[in-house]
Amino acid sequence: MSAILRLGGVSRTFGGIQAVSDMSFSVERGELAGLMGPNGAGKTTVFNLITGVYDVTSGDIEFDGRNINRLKTYEVISLGVARTFQNLRIFAGSSVLENVMTAAQQHHRYGFFEALSHMGRWGAMERATRAESMELLDRVGLSDRADQAAGTLPYGLQRRLEIARAISLRPSLLLLDEPAAGMNPEEVVKLNELIINIHGDFNLTILLIEHHMDMVMEICPHIVCMNFGAKIAEGSPEEIRNHPEVLKAYLGEED
Ligand SMILES: Nc1ncnc2c1ncn2[C@@H]1O[C@H](COP(=O)(O)OP(=O)(O)O)[C@@H](O)[C@H]1O
Ligand SMILES: [Mg+2]
Repeated sequence: MSAILRLGGVSRTFGGIQAVSDMSFSVERGELAGLMGPNGAGKTTVFNLITGVYDVTSGDIEFDGRNINRLKTYEVISLGVARTFQNLRIFAGSSVLENVMTAAQQHHRYGFFEALSHMGRWGAMERATRAESMELLDRVGLSDRADQAAGTLPYGLQRRLEIARAISLRPSLLLLDEPAAGMNPEEVVKLNELIINIHGDFNLTILLIEHHMDMVMEICPHIVCMNFGAKIAEGSPEEIRNHPEVLKAYLGEED
């Protein structure tokens, strides 16, 4: 395996706040890795640094062996990185299918479909996007909801839709930011299944943010744990579970 993502000594300050401090870790191609830590640890900021929402204050971020420190968000996406957000960003008034189609069109700007659009074949592009999006909805178990307004889906399915939108970009690296947030226990079980399935089916490398220890432990063989912006532990679930720094960081948390 070779690293698809590598952070080397990455730091980011906001005014006086050290949000991320000297973070170093790698994610190998094909892994399902977890980034765990209590609320406020700096996890989302790590995603924002990878995806060019913020620039690093110091350190290096490499994707596919290439330094992406200074790339803009759309450039990082075009290299094959997609993400979901801690707060849902679906279009509540649009249908489930339209939500996926608008995301898929973003991807199509860069390839075969771009050529079709240049030839003025909008109809062909639209049909192909629709078919591809329906197939994707089928793969994530949402095809029977295609025409429903996204905002009327149960919460767990809205999260599922957000994942479908991210996958429609055909990423090689998928970043999931607390996909289980706000879900009930049954929805979390189904979400875990979905993540494991898409990881295999779409040939994805996944980095999953989660603050609850249980979920990360269950599905991620490789876990990076952070607290106060810094990495405090890295390893297998067994290594993380009994790590003194992790236990200390989670002391007083309800889980
Ligand atoms: N744009 C920003 N401006 C100021 N502070 C920020 C900004 N983004 C994140 N932070 C701070 O960085 C720290 C880590 O936040 P975050 O990455 O959201 O943590 P987590 O996702 O682990 O809960 C927090 O103290 C947060 O307030
Ligand atoms: Mg967060």
